[in-house]
Amino acid sequence: MSYNLLKGKKGIIFGALDENSIAWKTALRCHEEGAELLLTNAPVAMRMGEINKLAATVNAPVIPCDVSSNEDVLNLIVKAKEHFGGGVDFILHSIGMSINMRKGKHYTEIDYGFNAKTLDISAMSLHRVLAIAMKEDAINEWGSVVALTYIAAQRVFPDYSEMADAKSLLESVARSFGYHYAAKKHVRINTISQSPTRTTAGSGVKGFDGFITYAEKMSPLGNASADDCANYCVTLFSDMTKMVTMQNLFHDGGFSSTGVTGEVIEKMEK
Ligand SMILES: NC(=O)c1ccc[n+]([C@@H]2O[C@H](COP(=O)([O-])OP(=O)(O)OC[C@H]3O[C@@H](n4cnc5c(N)ncnc54)[C@H](O)[C@@H]3O)[C@@H](O)[C@H]2O)c1
Repeated sequence: MSYNLLKGKKGIIFGALDENSIAWKTALRCHEEGAELLLTNAPVAMRMGEINKLAATVNAPVIPCDVSSNEDVLNLIVKAKEHFGGGVDFILHSIGMSINMRKGKHYTEIDYGFNAKTLDISAMSLHRVLAIAMKEDAINEWGSVVALTYIAAQRVFPDYSEMADAKSLLESVARSFGYHYAAKKHVRINTISQSPTRTTAGSGVKGFDGFITYAEKMSPLGNASADDCANYCVTLFSDMTKMVTMQNLFHDGGFSSTGVTGEVIEKMEK
């Protein structure tokens, strides 16, 4: 069902890899709500070809961009302005990559070169996108930027490894840049802290099955799905949430405020 919440708005969606991606579902919902979109992902992700299916469905151009490259981000922002004939109203940053996890390196023995790359792709890329967008004046007044994060930024989930540090940094960048962009152009910047979700990035975390089931049992509403997350993104891109900025917003079925649930107690007593 569409409420036309994004009618007349234009947005850039980073990170739609396949149909399970949170960015993929968000692109579909934004399109349903009347937004015009531009899709982007890393060139290596694009070679898998999936994104073209989404592009055809939501009638959007696709521009490759490795977010760790200044040139790629500048090229994307310039092309987006050309395509839309001006600035955008929203941006979704739905990007995560841990090189140490991928290489099987334990948190206590990380390679710092890999770690620098992880922090750059997963966190400082938000700064890079915002800094270049600000310089090029590519986000309209009262625009909205959302980045996706996880509660491992606040609490320890041992197998989340260096991504926990990356998410802390990402949330901090959203707050810090949120101040400057609000003061300059009323642009708001928030992070959504999402429940564990079955996607390529999510399933890369060791012990993911146990992880997602535990979260389900520890959340009074259950885990929030990728579709739920897409709906939440739509509200944050809409004018209904104009005064929300510099926040880390938990979208987790109540997990973050729950000490224990009846279901978990019952299991422990067996
Ligand atoms: N899946 C979960 O359990 C979960 C929970 C909370 C938060 N998140 C966050 O949600 C976001 C989206 O992840 P997802 O779960 O949809 O998985 P996903 O694997 O579908 O998406 C991750 C995306 O990051 C992109 N990416 C990686 N390196 C890049 C680079 N150098 N340049 C540009 N793009 C690059 C990938 O191509 C991919 O499209 C991530 O920030 C993730 O950490 C996921």
